[in-house]
Amino acid sequence: MDPAPIPGNSLEAGENQVQTRILHVSDLHFGPPLVPEVAEALLDVASKLPMDAIVVSGDLTQRARREQFVEAKRFLQRLPQVPLLVIPGNHDVPLYHVTRRMSDPHRIYREEISEELNPVLRLPGCVIVGLDSTAPRSAISNGRIHSWQLDHCQQIFQAVPKDTVKIVVAHHHFAPAPDYLHDSTMPKARRAIMRFVELGVDAILGGHLHRSYIGNSLDFYPGTHREQGIVIAQCGTSTSRRGRGREQEKNTFNWLCLRNGAIDITHHMFFHESGFLPTSSHRFYRHTRLAQLKDA
Ligand SMILES: [Fe+2]
Ligand SMILES: [Fe+2]
Repeated sequence: MDPAPIPGNSLEAGENQVQTRILHVSDLHFGPPLVPEVAEALLDVASKLPMDAIVVSGDLTQRARREQFVEAKRFLQRLPQVPLLVIPGNHDVPLYHVTRRMSDPHRIYREEISEELNPVLRLPGCVIVGLDSTAPRSAISNGRIHSWQLDHCQQIFQAVPKDTVKIVVAHHHFAPAPDYLHDSTMPKARRAIMRFVELGVDAILGGHLHRSYIGNSLDFYPGTHREQGIVIAQCGTSTSRRGRGREQEKNTFNWLCLRNGAIDITHHMFFHESGFLPTSSHRFYRHTRLAQLKDA
């Protein structure tokens, strides 16, 4: 006979209800690093996965050239036509063309991809704030989040109902790489994390590291909020040969399923024989559920 279920250990019917599904891809790197076979496989799997929105967390191109942005745009147009949130990465501003980088670094991105560098996407039961973390005039590789961007998050998040899932997307990483390879976090990343905790942010999605990490801010920033922290989902490179560390020569993406009581994240990896397949699944109970269980 099966043992009696442990109270609170599985989702009740209402908690299990799906609100929104999100495809999260990153670091497409259109240009020489792109692997066309993988890009086609991504389109194929995307046409079969249920989704309500797509998030692209930066580095659409390799060198911010117009023809690379045009190719990236055509690719995005072939994905399922659901609401799309795109932000730029450090490779989407010119590296070697210093005059352009100093004067108008996002000009071609704005002309070909999106006029909005800090977009907001509102979905049923969920709001996603995209932040442009590029710092083309200073820390080009490490990125930066300015205090006005944190204020912008506050304005958006404080205006939504309490149980809304709040997600931040930025290209650069707030938490260190999940291995021993050196990759500095953004300057003042801790300040941003602490502010996100205050604002009740549920999850942060990012890219840049070219290898995945799915975990929790408490792994890196114990701070004063030691009960739950913020879910962090880093996406590897979804279509390029620039995978690093444990995802060297690998391509990955994440698929998020937001439920009333939990955030489920499924990590997918590309295999030459079979295309993209799910390789691991992660469940994080929501803050609101924990509060209800404490009150019960
Ligand atoms: Fe990248
Ligand atoms: Fe990057």
